[in-house]
Amino acid sequence: MSAAIGIDIGGTGIKAALVDLDKGALIGDRHKVSTPDGGEPDDVVQAAVDLLTEIEDIDDSMPVGVCFPAVVQGGRTMSAANVSDAWIGLEAEQLFEGALGRDIHFVNDADAAGFAEARYGAAKDVAGLVIMTTLGTGIGTALINDGALVPNAELGHLEIDGVDWETVASNSAREREELSWSEWAERLQRFYSQLERYFSPERFVVGGGVSKHHDEFLPLLDLQTEIVPAAMRNNAGIIGAAALAGLPKGR
Ligand code: BGC
Repeated sequence: MSAAIGIDIGGTGIKAALVDLDKGALIGDRHKVSTPDGGEPDDVVQAAVDLLTEIEDIDDSMPVGVCFPAVVQGGRTMSAANVSDAWIGLEAEQLFEGALGRDIHFVNDADAAGFAEARYGAAKDVAGLVIMTTLGTGIGTALINDGALVPNAELGHLEIDGVDWETVASNSAREREELSWSEWAERLQRFYSQLERYFSPERFVVGGGVSKHHDEFLPLLDLQTEIVPAAMRNNAGIIGAAALAGLPKGR
């Protein structure tokens, strides 16, 4: 069995686990800590280091993938929506590698989730375009065309009525404003309708922690496009980060 470690850094929590790369499934427990207040680089990196020490049955040679809620280009974080602005332009991959004492694969969190769903889950073997969306602290998106990831799509920041739509339609907006499922679904409807108009995808995949309640809101949406929950739910980021780190390139 081949295995790798995935670390998923979010605006609210940081999660890590050992991943079976043949099955695309967690091995053992998922470990979680809250994202340090302010999301400052040093604090977040230290939290990731601490989390890694909690995972059992790992050795220093195991590949590590880290996914992060920002545009990632050449190992640098180029945006910061739900973390400190200090990440903008930072050599984040190098920072994590120094602190973790090993090479890592560093990638956007929604891209990691999309890669996992394309390889093992709800976007597997779909011809044409799949749009992965993660509904969490923000809204993450990944474009997967014929199984290949087109990185750094930031469609959660689509502006509707002049509003950055993730600020009103993310799962954290639902919680903050105590929206009912139908009130939230109205906001999601506008988001997915716009994406449908612009991209005509074959399928939408919906991840994030709230995807375990998909029965409450996905049936309320009226779309031409098939919309399904992520097979790996909220573990897609961990699994995708691990897979990107551990699978031979090009597979
Ligand atoms: C960020 C994306 C990220 C998404 C989900 C957005 O605010 O801009 O890069 O994928 O949140 O975490």
